[in-house]
Amino acid sequence: MRITVHPSSREAASSAAEELVAQAAGGGLHVLGVATGSTPQPLYRELAKHRTPGLADLTLFALDEYVGLPEGHPQSYRSVIERDVGEPLGISPSRIHLPDPVAPGAYDAAIAAHGGIDVQILGIGQNGHIGFNEPGSGFHSLTRVTPLDASTRAANARFFDSIEDVPTHAVTQGIATILSARRIVVFAFGRAKADAVAAAISGPRTEQMPASALQDHPDVSWVIDEDAASLLPPALRSNLGRAVELGASL
Ligand code: PGA
Repeated sequence: MRITVHPSSREAASSAAEELVAQAAGGGLHVLGVATGSTPQPLYRELAKHRTPGLADLTLFALDEYVGLPEGHPQSYRSVIERDVGEPLGISPSRIHLPDPVAPGAYDAAIAAHGGIDVQILGIGQNGHIGFNEPGSGFHSLTRVTPLDASTRAANARFFDSIEDVPTHAVTQGIATILSARRIVVFAFGRAKADAVAAAISGPRTEQMPASALQDHPDVSWVIDEDAASLLPPALRSNLGRAVELGASL
């Protein structure tokens, strides 16, 4: 696990965008897993500054989608990914995949048929969720329909007129689906994420903290700001802007 603490989300996003652009230019990035929410927005803005044919040729697989929003709803994750990633990078909607609540298992098959996800972008919920894998999700879970925690619906109410409008269910990549990506880049910004970040990185590996499953993956980079890093052990939050490898002893 590699952890890089940046002074701000913009600097974190800019450095991650440069790495992704270089990976795409080197032929190592064809399929990108994309997350929604506020956290990856700075990354998408930075990537848009590098708009290149290599990025326009990416195939995107979203982490998750709400169940029950009408087609074209501005907060459906298809709308969000097309608006915030597809259009700025010049990626055709036909290359953007989202899980279908009617046939969730087909999503894992579609990812495999595209050769797997080269890089998965992730955020982390205040409750430690990744995708919509809420606490208690099995580490072997695949793409499936799942109820949303009350805390997740409350956190996402800011995107809707009222909390009653936030869907109660979503279809999400499972934890095993996420772990099947070759490389995972997790972003976390702000003090509200500090507890979950510390528990996921340096706490026990437990299904009560879904992001702790990332401890099992051979290529995970945490790209976080100082506030999100504030509850990590001091050795992990030193060296601003430089990666710290998490040793087996920590
Ligand atoms: P946020 O959501 O980026 O909007 O904070 C992250 C998440 O819930 O995974």
